[in-house]
Amino acid sequence: MNRLKINDVLLLEKSTGEITVKGWIRTKRNSKTFSFLELNDGSCLENIQIIADESLVNYNEICSLTTGSAISVTGLLLESLGKGQKWEIKAEGIFIYSTAPDSFPLQKKRHSDEYLRSIAHLRPRTNKYGAIFRIRSEVSLIIHDYFHNKNFYYIHTPIITGSDCEGAGELFNITTLDFENMPEIDGKTDFSTDFFGKRTNLTVSGQLSAEMFALSLGDVYTFGPTFRAENSNTSRHVSEFWMIEPEMAFCDLKENMDIAEEFIKYVIKNVIQRRESDINLFAKFVDKNLMPTLNNIILNTFERIQYKEAVDILLKSEKKFEFDVKYGSDLQSEHERFITEEYFKKPVFVYNYPKTIKPFYMRLNEDNETVAAMDLLVPNIGELIGGSQREERLDILKIRMDESNINKEDYWWYLDSRKYGSVPHSGFGLGFERLLMLLTGVSNIRDVIPFPRVPGNIDF
Ligand code: 4AD
Ligand code: MG
Repeated sequence: MNRLKINDVLLLEKSTGEITVKGWIRTKRNSKTFSFLELNDGSCLENIQIIADESLVNYNEICSLTTGSAISVTGLLLESLGKGQKWEIKAEGIFIYSTAPDSFPLQKKRHSDEYLRSIAHLRPRTNKYGAIFRIRSEVSLIIHDYFHNKNFYYIHTPIITGSDCEGAGELFNITTLDFENMPEIDGKTDFSTDFFGKRTNLTVSGQLSAEMFALSLGDVYTFGPTFRAENSNTSRHVSEFWMIEPEMAFCDLKENMDIAEEFIKYVIKNVIQRRESDINLFAKFVDKNLMPTLNNIILNTFERIQYKEAVDILLKSEKKFEFDVKYGSDLQSEHERFITEEYFKKPVFVYNYPKTIKPFYMRLNEDNETVAAMDLLVPNIGELIGGSQREERLDILKIRMDESNINKEDYWWYLDSRKYGSVPHSGFGLGFERLLMLLTGVSNIRDVIPFPRVPGNIDF
């Protein structure tokens, strides 16, 4: 079996003689008796140079190969005389799988992100998007490594559910009912005849299920897709995104923040090491400030302030905001960014939010007004993490459900967990795409997910 990748070849210490690599041509330069091909196979940012000479039987065809064409090259691995690259391949045989006509949209020039979004099926063949998606893959592994090292178990929480964890009602309904002929009772849709016998939706968070497992296995996490039908066309929202949700038994809000802080630092340190050349591309061409931003996060202790201190800071600032700041209202993204980017200039946990703006499951504080919630705000992004200590006291949880108009019967199993061996527990949710924006300096969330789903657009 020969599945050698250019990434492996570039790491070789000494020549292994004849090798075969397969990939797509990025550029080609013909001289009188040679053709120089830059070959990329997606395994790394770097191309490998192929030297084809006129002794090859299909030399004429090779000379007319176009950008995007797919080939297999067998040849001798030689130390490159040119600078930049250690290795090149002197071709002994080139097999042409297929050619890409001149209409291939990725010609040798810089294309705008907007344009590349319109050809999302081809954009991973560019340097920038290849790098993004290799980083995305690596960061997934780094996340699993972190939790594995810390004795967390990975739980697959359901994607189809009957509950609305966040209570914000931003649900995508799923049904097998016939839209042309919906069964009705008293003028309302009768979901009892639907597939699951009740109204069903795609999950907005795996948290409630993760809690059940934390209360059995100790420390657990989920890492999966979540769906929100928010009609917000911003550079930080997509309708389908991936969330990492650790949930820890015997854990209070402070420890929850400690874990979140350690986790973010671990991910940043590791991605810089493990995908050095991909990260450098972003530091060089996408965000000149990327390395200082990332180093600042690794080196500093994150700030921790209560919601009311955050509001004080905003009210005292001279800054003109589009949305008014007042006690009791949620912070808008412009407020969050002011606090992290301009005021503290580093990541900031804001905790103890008013209970009226947070979901039912967050633990009520002694003041009866605030809950043990925490959001982590980071420069360039705003909210990266939302988490809380959970309400473990059955009586208070029931009151909070009533206040939030939640039907307790639907959540009988959740309430059960507070009846049988309830313990203080906490967790958080981290938006995977927002983390990738932070790690790459990419400013639009649509550019760090393979095929973005946003309102009004379900192409690809
Ligand atoms: O703050 P959120 O809504 O928290 C929860 O869902 C909790 N149940 C998590 C938990 O405690 N287990 O969402 C968590 C994070 C946000 O901080 C943000 O990073 C990301 O998910 N997020 C989105 N990312 C992209 N597009 C969207 N529409 C997002 N909505 C939330
Ligand atoms: Mg949130």
